[in-house]
Amino acid sequence: MQERFYRVIASQLRRPSGRFGRWVMTRALNQGNAELIEGSLGALELRPDDRYLDAGFGGGRSIELAAKTIDLGHIYGVDYSSDMVTHGQRRFRKLIQEGRLSLLAGDFLDLPFRDHLMSAVSTINTIYFWAEPPATLSSFRRILRPGGRLAVGFSGAEKTRAYAALTHSDFRHVQAEEVVALVSAAGFDAVRALPQRGKVSRGDFVVVAQRADE
Ligand SMILES: C[S@@+](CC[C@H](N)C(=O)[O-])C[C@H]1O[C@@H](n2cnc3c(N)ncnc32)[C@H](O)[C@@H]1O
Repeated sequence: MQERFYRVIASQLRRPSGRFGRWVMTRALNQGNAELIEGSLGALELRPDDRYLDAGFGGGRSIELAAKTIDLGHIYGVDYSSDMVTHGQRRFRKLIQEGRLSLLAGDFLDLPFRDHLMSAVSTINTIYFWAEPPATLSSFRRILRPGGRLAVGFSGAEKTRAYAALTHSDFRHVQAEEVVALVSAAGFDAVRALPQRGKVSRGDFVVVAQRADE
C-alpha cells in the first residue's frame, strides 16, 4: 500500500497529471520548492525586458515571481504535462490576456520556440528526468540568444538519495560538479554552481551560465 503511494507520487513528480496533479501536486510543488525556485530566479537576475522561459514550470511559482520583474519583455512556460498547462492558463489568465505570458505544451527536446528567442531560461527540479542531458542542454542553448542566461536548479545527489522511496527508479541523482561539466560541454560560459542555504533548500544547487557566442 505504502509502496503504491510512493510510486504514484514519483510518477506525479515526473509528470503531474489528472485532478491529483492539478489540485495537489501544483500546491505541493509551489510550496516545497519555493526556496529553490526563488534561488534559481535570483541567480538569473531577471530584468524587466527579458524574454524568459521556465521549462517544466509545474505549479507555476516561477511564473508568479517572474511577473513581478518582467513587464516589458515576455514570460514563457513550457511543460509536457497538458494538465499543468491547463492549470497555468487558468491561474494566470490575467497575465495571458495582458499579452505578458504564453504557456505551451512541449518537450524540452523539441521546444516550440525559434532560435535565439530567449534572453533567460530556467529549469528547476527537472534534470532528474532528462532522457538525454546533452541534447536537452543543446535545446536550451538553441533558443537562447548569445550571452543569454541559463539557470538549472536541482537537489544534489546526497539529498535525492535520502528520499529513496521516491527516487529509486528511473531517476537521475546528480552532483553539482557533474552538472557544471555538462553545461560547459553544451556551449555555455561562466558556469558556476551556487549552493543553496535556505531552510528547505540546503543540499540544493543552482548552476548558472551564459550561452557562449557562436
Ligand atoms: C518535479 S516537477 C518541478 C516543477 C517546478 N519546476 C518546481 O520546481 O516546482 C517537474 C516538471 O517538469 C515537467 N517536465 C519534466 N520533464 C519534461 C520534459 N522533458 N519536457 C517538458 N516538461 C517536462 C513535468 O511535467 C513537471 O511539471
